Amino acid sequence: MTTAASSRIHPPSSDELDPEERMSREEIERLQLERLQWTVRHAYANVPLYTRKFDEADVHPDDIRTLADVQRLPFTTKDDLRETYPFGMFAVPMADVARIHASSGTTGRPTVVGYTRGDLDRWGSLVARSLRASGIRPGMKVHNAYGYGLFTGGLGAHAGIEALGATVIPMSGGQTARQVQLIRDFEPDAILCTPSYLLTIADAMAAQGIDPRSTSLKVAVLGAEPWSNEMRHELEQRLGIDALDIYGLSEVMGPGVGNECLESKDGPHLWEDHFLPEIIDAETLAVQADGELGELVFTSLTKEAFPVIRYRTRDLTRLLPGTARAGMRRMEKVTGRNDDMIILRGVNLFPTQIEELVLGIEQL
Ligand code: DLL
Repeated sequence: MTTAASSRIHPPSSDELDPEERMSREEIERLQLERLQWTVRHAYANVPLYTRKFDEADVHPDDIRTLADVQRLPFTTKDDLRETYPFGMFAVPMADVARIHASSGTTGRPTVVGYTRGDLDRWGSLVARSLRASGIRPGMKVHNAYGYGLFTGGLGAHAGIEALGATVIPMSGGQTARQVQLIRDFEPDAILCTPSYLLTIADAMAAQGIDPRSTSLKVAVLGAEPWSNEMRHELEQRLGIDALDIYGLSEVMGPGVGNECLESKDGPHLWEDHFLPEIIDAETLAVQADGELGELVFTSLTKEAFPVIRYRTRDLTRLLPGTARAGMRRMEKVTGRNDDMIILRGVNLFPTQIEELVLGIEQL
């Protein structure tokens, strides 16, 4: 494992962690059950689509007595969100919705999500937790190159940087030459963007005769697209930084559903005090044991405006035991989605696998 800049940044000490990050597995599960029961009642009472789907499945909020009872609830898909476009899944009056985001929706209608003031506060604190796990601290300068706007990346990361007490540089995406200039002039400690965009920035530096290892950057928190450990290695070496994986999706919150810990760099820890993950077989829909590869499914545990029940992410991964945060499970770095998979002569192939091979060829 490379910790290219580990002498310059360090993991949080245990007294810097949120109390939930120090909980045992049993304590987390107790909290999850309490919050699951609240969420299921809230969704059933306030979102007609959930009322109808629960009734059709002959399941009532009172039936949720253990965490395993979540398996009795119907799944939610992107089609459900499209069917209720734009605001049909909101569980609070519009007057209580403080912010709306939407995903671009490559096909058909965009997916619209909403947040109460409380949802925004919890989101900010989970992004702050994610950045702290990556080695970022109050007082550091953070260059935020996730796109601002309806995409959850920019504003989600922004709120987290502020909640942590770091200094935010709200750069947004694009204008690569300007990004390079401001990184040199403002001397940020950290950069937040997609992994492929960080590579573009490194290329732009090299093209201008700037050594990408010579900047002030110590750490990058990268996500919004799948990227391999080979890509991590490449970015860490080229820029002389630590590169950490931040995971999330707008339907479930946005960035910060999970994040890697600097001390282990072994796939994002999922912030299980706020989200209940499951892995299912995408064909049979059967729940898989931890360690098995399948489609990641989330139930939100604290969301007010937009609770999601067993939302099918289409992301393929496995659930693994917690390491740096023992009470919370990790997910393996996402290998792909079950909808961008190419089947080549019967072999399932993901773009990230091609990336791994290409990065392994020195001449390229
Ligand atoms: O991409 C939220 C986000 C912003 C995450 C910034 C991290 C950083 P969506 O636009 O709704 O939300 O896209 C979500 O992107 O289902 C995954 O397929 C993919 N994705 C997000 N983070 C990762 C990651 C944001 N770390 C979809 N690794 C998800 C792999 C990721 N895929």
